[in-house]
Amino acid sequence: MTLASPPSALRTRPFGKLGWAVSEISYGAWALGGGAWGEQDDRESIAALQRAIDLGVNLIDTAAGYGNGRSEQVIARALAGRREKIHLVTKTPPLPGNWPPQPHERVEDRYPESHLRANLEERLRFLNTDCIDVLLLHVWSRAWNRDPQPLAVLEQFKREGKIRAYGISTPDHDQDQLNTLLAAGRLDVIQLVYNLFEQQPAAEALPLAQASGTAVMGRLVFDEGSLTGKLTPATTFPEGDFRRGYFGGDRVPRTVARVERIRDDLRDTPYAPAQAAIKFALAHPAMSTVIPGMRNLAQVEANVGASAAPDLPDALLERLRRHIWLRGNWHAGK
Ligand SMILES: NC(=O)c1ccc[n+]([C@@H]2O[C@H](COP(=O)([O-])OP(=O)(O)OC[C@H]3O[C@@H](n4cnc5c(N)ncnc54)[C@H](OP(=O)(O)O)[C@@H]3O)[C@@H](O)[C@H]2O)c1
Repeated sequence: MTLASPPSALRTRPFGKLGWAVSEISYGAWALGGGAWGEQDDRESIAALQRAIDLGVNLIDTAAGYGNGRSEQVIARALAGRREKIHLVTKTPPLPGNWPPQPHERVEDRYPESHLRANLEERLRFLNTDCIDVLLLHVWSRAWNRDPQPLAVLEQFKREGKIRAYGISTPDHDQDQLNTLLAAGRLDVIQLVYNLFEQQPAAEALPLAQASGTAVMGRLVFDEGSLTGKLTPATTFPEGDFRRGYFGGDRVPRTVARVERIRDDLRDTPYAPAQAAIKFALAHPAMSTVIPGMRNLAQVEANVGASAAPDLPDALLERLRRHIWLRGNWHAGK
């Protein structure tokens, strides 16, 4: 399969040691599944995907779980006749159970070979393709790093020509979960959270990925939307929208207050908050691509356009690093 280079306005980066030239801003397609993100019109999704491709996006991130395959099937429709231009990344979940898996659970119970194989066949069918560029395991446990049995099955899928590369995605609470596997060079690709609030990967995970030539996909560059600057203290989310929980309790006003401080730092600069959020994640040299979630033409055009903006100057980057937020720590607060 040959992959065309994107138009020059959208810059590309090497995708780890795989040698692919991937658009530095790619497509996060969770919201295209509807459900957890509320109503979504498939025609709007297809128009957004096709516009992104026209602008040079050549990687799309989706998952079995995004609307029970709806996101994958919409992508397949949008890609009719253009499949060869795009790197498709999708995710296989473990068998139903705790999410994230608990430390006492056995990997062979959650990711048995029979499940991995049946799930891959469904991914190929939903995406209407005979080979997936990257298959990620959607969630993992540190307990499984010592004997990561599913990776041998994924190697076999590569030999069979059903996938070109594989990796694992970190859970929201632990961006260092895969460090052992990264240090051992066991993964082609890792997907992790890295943004103006969650900067912990800069300590270990990103340097380990860089040293081992592991491609990095940065997710949640907007912290589920807050870092675009669009939330106000009065923002609420409808019943069924997962952000009702993510921004539950007093988190909306607390988050907005922090975003306002970021906005203060951007006041005399040419960067809008969403652009700065994208540029911040891309400023780490280990980052291969960021995958902002996008659900319409306006978001595609705004986000993809950030590639053409100048890189963040060092002094501004340094200032923005101060917005790190250790939300998982009881003493420092949520
Ligand atoms: N591996 C995993 O477990 C995992 C978990 C989460 C996400 N992901 C992947 O990472 C991708 C990105 O994460 P995410 O979508 O959850 O969060 P995100 O990128 O932090 O935020 C995306 C949301 O921000 C809003 N937005 C995007 N561009 C905007 C703009 N220019 N101006 C204003 N608002 C804008 C949109 O929401 P509204 O239009 O609704 O406001 C959009 O759905 C996902 O799509 C998915 O592919 C993976």
